[in-house]
Amino acid sequence: MILIDGKKTAQDIRAELKIEIDRLTSSGKSVPGLVAILVGDHPASEIYIKSKSKACNEIGMRTLTEKLASDTLENDLLELISEYNFNKDFHGILVQLPLPKHINENKVIEAILPKKDVDGFHPISIGNLVIGKDAFRSCTPAGIQELLIRYNIDTKGKHVVILGRSNIVGKPIANILLQKKEHANSIVTVCHSAAPDVSYYTKQADILIAAIGSPEFVKAEMVKEGVVVLDVGINRVEDATAKKGYRVLGDVDFAEVSHKASYITPVPGGVGPMTIAMLLKNTFEAFTKYG
Ligand code: GUN
Repeated sequence: MILIDGKKTAQDIRAELKIEIDRLTSSGKSVPGLVAILVGDHPASEIYIKSKSKACNEIGMRTLTEKLASDTLENDLLELISEYNFNKDFHGILVQLPLPKHINENKVIEAILPKKDVDGFHPISIGNLVIGKDAFRSCTPAGIQELLIRYNIDTKGKHVVILGRSNIVGKPIANILLQKKEHANSIVTVCHSAAPDVSYYTKQADILIAAIGSPEFVKAEMVKEGVVVLDVGINRVEDATAKKGYRVLGDVDFAEVSHKASYITPVPGGVGPMTIAMLLKNTFEAFTKYG
């Protein structure tokens, strides 16, 4: 069994980007910039935003966080996005989700210019992805594909079974791996809560991607020998013996499934760290393409 080290891979990607940005800086050129917009005080979002801005700073990318009050009007948020759409110092705009209930998330996502949509959530980005045109791909799915590439895991003709059909992970990774392209070209099955017997599908997987938010859902008897497992789950479960009072578990029962898998990501330290690395990569790409 080979452990897929997402933490190390994410560090490698950040180091590669830092070299590119150092090169720009030393030749007196401008650098890529990412603005993150946070509305309200969702604790998990605050943590994500802090890690994002720390990661930007470490590689020399310009970064700014706009923190808005939880009662910010939708129109004021749309206005701010529109300002950044035309701000030449920022090549990527990220609005942290979830947003407070009174704000229409779709409207906000659609307000971001597709050329600055480094989260890959805009319907134009998603449409382009589906039809195989160049597009920003949302960061967690892009990170999953990057892990497959960097670990030389062949995807062509392989049966990829995805658990979960979210707009952020399940649907985009299905569309990425379905493309008739290098590092894709897979046979894809997307499983979801209406599946009468999930094992029927998971047992057929050459590559299993779990993104359902259910701790240790995937058990050894649900997979075949030699399966490649990518676990997107980040589930906090109470644990009085842990320092923080909780443990973080994936959607896969790692202790059991790792004995059958040929490759597997741990949680934490697997898919998770790749998300920010790919966000930085997308921002760098926005800069080189449209900067
Ligand atoms: N909330 C949880 N994950 C994400 C993400 O990748 N991007 C944004 N914008 N919000 C999120």
